[in-house]
Amino acid sequence: MQGIIPILAIVLCGLGVVISLSCKECLTTDVYCINQTSYRNCINNVPIGNVINCRADTVCSNSNDVCVESSKINEDIQDVCGTSGGIGCGQCTSNKFTCVSQNQFVRCSGTTLIDSNIYNCDTDEVCISEAISKYENICVPSCARDFLNLKATCSNVDYTTTTTAAPTTTTPSPDEKASACSAAETSLQIPATTKYFLTKYPLDTCGSYLYCEKNEKTAKWDTVYVPCPATKPFFDSAKSLCVATKPSSCT
Ligand SMILES: *[C@@H]1O[C@H](CO)[C@@H](O)[C@H](O)[C@H]1NC(C)=O
Repeated sequence: MQGIIPILAIVLCGLGVVISLSCKECLTTDVYCINQTSYRNCINNVPIGNVINCRADTVCSNSNDVCVESSKINEDIQDVCGTSGGIGCGQCTSNKFTCVSQNQFVRCSGTTLIDSNIYNCDTDEVCISEAISKYENICVPSCARDFLNLKATCSNVDYTTTTTAAPTTTTPSPDEKASACSAAETSLQIPATTKYFLTKYPLDTCGSYLYCEKNEKTAKWDTVYVPCPATKPFFDSAKSLCVATKPSSCT
């Protein structure tokens, strides 16, 4: 398995590459987002007809409404050509790693992005989340990608680190994180069998969340503090993910 990509790379490099992303691609909604604010319709996966501009303050999305207000963008309705990188970008599913830009990836813990460490693919490689299960490698040489008909998972060039997302909060100490996890375990009535859970932090502004995992050896909490990204600055406890629209329980 390991040998497939390098061999294809040698055979195919130099044939030229066409970047294929969910941006500039016919989506299942039969919409081809040209850029963040305009689109064309598709028939049989081919864009047809005139360029249509989205109304002011709306962006081309994967919803049936096509152009939606930026504030409505969430985990399901995505800003296809926006800086968030499009569908599947920066999302942890069943894999251990996920792409966060065209060329970078991070570790996943369950469905949580552990983005304190960001890894780079080589300069001539493209990050493709699905390649890790198929080819045991998340970084695919650009030329092999076309042959294999794979798409870069993210359309954004750089990953916007989340450190600017929650300017009013400071990173909590290990003790603060552990006691916040204990308090949340009680208030959220987390069952004893639950291996890990997420809880908003701090409780009032919801700008970040904690990943709490009970360490079976020490019986203490292993914790990761994760600020929500600038595009989705609030942690929604009901959905257990960062969202763009402030939940009513947050100030
Ligand atoms: C998007 O594409 C349209 C059509 O090519 C163009 O008129 C518009 O200026 C572009 N918008 C941006 C933000 O690049």
